[in-house]
Amino acid sequence: MALPLLLAAAAGWLPHMGTGRASLALSRVPAPRAETPVRSDEEYDYFRKTKSVSVSLEKPLGAVLEECAEGGVRVEDLQEGGSAAQTGLLKKGDRLLSILETDVSTSDFDSVMAKLVEAPQEVSLTVERNVIVKVKREVKPDPLLSVKDGPSSNVKMGSNLRKMLLDEKVELYKGMGKLTNCGGAGQCNLCFVDVLEGGQNLSPRTAVEEARLKKRPASYRLACQTLVNGDVTVEVPSK
Ligand code: FES
Repeated sequence: MALPLLLAAAAGWLPHMGTGRASLALSRVPAPRAETPVRSDEEYDYFRKTKSVSVSLEKPLGAVLEECAEGGVRVEDLQEGGSAAQTGLLKKGDRLLSILETDVSTSDFDSVMAKLVEAPQEVSLTVERNVIVKVKREVKPDPLLSVKDGPSSNVKMGSNLRKMLLDEKVELYKGMGKLTNCGGAGQCNLCFVDVLEGGQNLSPRTAVEEARLKKRPASYRLACQTLVNGDVTVEVPSK
């Protein structure tokens, strides 16, 4: 159960304005890189991380603490006039890791309070803080699609190979196939190409391709089923 209490009151400290000295030292704890950003915009991905922050504050801190369900205590609120609020060194949500280098990360509320009461006038704390870190997104160049004995052009990442080839006026279909092809539905089996280079830069074979290209070489792809994610060179076999 959460036990929000005024730290200043519980420790018998009265808030005052003369909070003299205060110091801050930051040290990043290497946190595992978040796989999925919490949000993204056009330029950046934003990841939630935790870091360890060391602060030195004068009593009274004026921090409202509450016991965490997982153990230890966190700052639930800051009291006006306390050194924590005045200096801005302690934030709501900070979880206490140590007091004067004594580990309190799993201590209960009463033990933490006792430590704070017996601490000297200037008390050193280490807290764990949640922060949002923005990381500039890597902009990959547009893939280069090259056709043997044909055109080369940059295409948008994830473009459909059939559409790109047709846009470049590559003769993907021959004879009646120009009229009878399925239009990209994966039914006619007429859009196959041979991938000469960069096969690893294409989307994986679909189930349709696995079924329809069973008797073709492994380097063949159905253009209508394939997305271009990097540089690739293809050849249109004679059909
Ligand atoms: S266009 Fe018909 S299978 Fe690709």
